[in-house]
Amino acid sequence: MSETNASADSRVTGENARRILRRDPNPHLFRPITFRSVTVRNRIMLSPMCQYSAQDGTPNDWHFTHLGARATGGAGIVCTEAVHVAPRGRITAHDLGLWNDAQRDALARIAGFVARQGAVPAIQLGHAGRKASVGRPWEGTRPVPPSDGGWTTVGPSALAYADGWPIPTALDSAGIQAELDALAQATRRAFEAGFKIVELHAAHGYLIHQFYSPLSNDRRDSYGGSFDNRIRFLVESLDAMRSEWPADLPLFVRLSISDWVEGGWTAEDSVRLCKLLKARGDVDLIDSSSGGNDPRQQIPIHPGYQVPFARQIRTETGLATGAVGLINAPDLAESIIANGDADLVLLGRGLLADPHWPLKAATMLKAQNVVWPVQYERSNIF
Ligand SMILES: Cc1cc2nc3c(=O)[nH]c(=O)nc-3n(C[C@H](O)[C@H](O)[C@H](O)COP(=O)(O)O)c2cc1C
Repeated sequence: MSETNASADSRVTGENARRILRRDPNPHLFRPITFRSVTVRNRIMLSPMCQYSAQDGTPNDWHFTHLGARATGGAGIVCTEAVHVAPRGRITAHDLGLWNDAQRDALARIAGFVARQGAVPAIQLGHAGRKASVGRPWEGTRPVPPSDGGWTTVGPSALAYADGWPIPTALDSAGIQAELDALAQATRRAFEAGFKIVELHAAHGYLIHQFYSPLSNDRRDSYGGSFDNRIRFLVESLDAMRSEWPADLPLFVRLSISDWVEGGWTAEDSVRLCKLLKARGDVDLIDSSSGGNDPRQQIPIHPGYQVPFARQIRTETGLATGAVGLINAPDLAESIIANGDADLVLLGRGLLADPHWPLKAATMLKAQNVVWPVQYERSNIF
């Protein structure tokens, strides 16, 4: 697939789609799917979205309400925002973390509620690397220095994200091992908290992406240089997670399929990586995002703009994929699943704007297997 702005909805409807629909009364978007031992009621996943509202990495009523509402709203999978494995891995000082038991127990309350609404609770684990220690979006997303309550950032190499950003400390082998250990411990706590899907955040210019992209990694050791060396930290991250995550539970990976920058990581690199992951057999879905590692990126944004990436990974590697990015119209979401472009659609801002998007989409698409929460039954007026 080339990185053009190929329209994702070019194959939306037509007799073929209608014929398939006639054989099964339910639209593809509302057909269940099973990953290992976990069955999801539909193909809609809440995309991870930082709320920048935690204290000491611990979730509170905001997170409970935010995630709980998307579960009562009918999403199949409700994923947390990026939950960071170590304090220095947080994007902002107000992000969620999972390096202690108090954080685990507060997350467990949310995961339990989400599961009782019939949604699958998922957690995204991450580390921001050189993009850590910034202010919240509504405070300007600027780097916050240690003198102002921030901290020293780390990365694969001493290369700043952009002009005016701090130069991170390049991780030595002990530092890399410490991050892998933190990831394993966070994965263990995620399981103890009751999450059924864990997603590794390896996209958007955060630590793992910084390792695999040649734009942010100029190491000369076994973690830099060749393709195999640059993906080593990602592969070791998966090993660390699988050492604590049961074999019967799914593991997703969010990748930036392309850097969208000349000389950067490409979709072809992602295909090569995903073929390797497919052969390893420990990853269940590639959440196909892009960009975030270099401010020079040029992304042609339009509805479904990253769907071609999900399609390419799915077709060329045989791995299941999730499509994300401006999938706000139920028809578009339905066509992505019906066309075989992806196995799931992830909605971010669409579900922020309307937690009941899945229930409304079910009505629009005439799904027959969807029930509103009994408390809300009388509101089914769409
Ligand atoms: C407020 C906000 C916070 C986000 N935080 C995360 C995050 O924690 N992890 C992540 O992988 N992506 C994050 N994203 C990206 C979204 O998950 C999603 O990929 C992106 O918004 C595109 O999807 P959409 O057009 O449906 O919003 C965030 C997006 C928004 C708007």
